[in-house]
Amino acid sequence: MELIYPEEKYLASYAEAYEEDMATNPIELQMLQPPEGVVERAEMERRGEGLPEGYVPATTLWLVDSDKFIGRVNIRHWLVPHLEQFGGHIGYMIRPSEQGKGYGRMQLAMALDWVRKNLDLDRVLVTCDDDNIRSARVIEANGGVLENKVENFEFGKTVLTRRYWIEL
Ligand SMILES: CC(C)(COP(=O)(O)OP(=O)(O)OC[C@H]1O[C@@H](n2cnc3c(N)ncnc32)[C@H](O)[C@@H]1OP(=O)(O)O)[C@@H](O)C(=O)NCCC(=O)NCCS
Repeated sequence: MELIYPEEKYLASYAEAYEEDMATNPIELQMLQPPEGVVERAEMERRGEGLPEGYVPATTLWLVDSDKFIGRVNIRHWLVPHLEQFGGHIGYMIRPSEQGKGYGRMQLAMALDWVRKNLDLDRVLVTCDDDNIRSARVIEANGGVLENKVENFEFGKTVLTRRYWIEL
């Protein structure tokens, strides 16, 4: 199991995971972008090129096992006010068919190692919806300490967001 920069080699498996995500999750919970151009877009986002207004450079990493795409993390290189309330430094997902096997917990641990090696941060903010119990467990298993819960207006509704800090 490895956490890698996106590579063409895994695109066929990524495309299957994208279809799974579309078939399984309602639109507001779909976390994978369409496969066309995804490797190039990740590279541009990492370098901070062509970012929409208010976006910061971010690194995408894929959790893979031999030729199989398992999951994806997106690591924002620094925070801006809206990320401090919703999103934080690290967002992640595990493809639906591979959830509940401990990969979410492992993927965040590997992402934290990447941050230690590559970014000058003492701690990271990780957020999740208050009712996303699996994600909260993943964060807590990786040392997350709950600072507070804040209300956000996302996808047309008010959501309660847990804000956790993880010391590096
Ligand atoms: C959240 C997510 C990344 C967790 O990944 P995962 O690989 O399924 O999680 P793990 O197998 O590592 O399990 C994490 C915890 O959830 C628990 N869990 C797993 N499946 C569960 C289920 N169906 N119901 C309740 N708890 C469950 C596990 O027991 C584990 O808790 P523990 O450490 O106390 O034993 C994954 O479910 C996912 O991608 N969800 C959709 C996208 C998402 O919500 N991303 C996070 C946004 S903040």
